[in-house]
Amino acid sequence: MILKIVKYPEPVLSQPGEPVTEFDDKLRQFVADMFETMYAAQGIGLAAPQVAVSKRVTVIDLSMGKDPAQKLVLVNPEIIARDGKQYEEEGCLSFPEIREKIQRAFKVSIRAQDERGKWFEMDGEELLSRAFQHEIDHLDGVLFLTRMSPLKRDLNLRKIRKMQREGTW
Ligand code: NI
Repeated sequence: MILKIVKYPEPVLSQPGEPVTEFDDKLRQFVADMFETMYAAQGIGLAAPQVAVSKRVTVIDLSMGKDPAQKLVLVNPEIIARDGKQYEEEGCLSFPEIREKIQRAFKVSIRAQDERGKWFEMDGEELLSRAFQHEIDHLDGVLFLTRMSPLKRDLNLRKIRKMQREGTW
């Protein structure tokens, strides 16, 4: 089932998600729905707060559905190490048409549970590292807007307000 993706400034996007404690069929169905929703929106990452569910669940697939081996489900994820820097353009499904360069760690190590509750660790570099950081930020209620320079943030907020006035947001 395709879920509705909420846009900034929906309050749920700014709230930290609740840890997941039940690894049941309901969670697995929700994860399947998140993948379906992300693919329909042509994204590479989607966090539960973006579909108005305040829980610490995110899905990532850099291949956008082309390679099943790249499907990642992160439940209750945390970043356990960061290394280096990268400054690349980023987008977010909750900010349609907004793209901005954001500074992130070049490499991160994460620890997370899968949809059955099993803990695992994983490293990511470049785009995967950026996706980990962007999506885990969502679970903490942190939006990429707040990672921009104050100048870029103001410019993008103005752009959003203009789209809101025109009814295109
Ligand atoms: Ni996002």
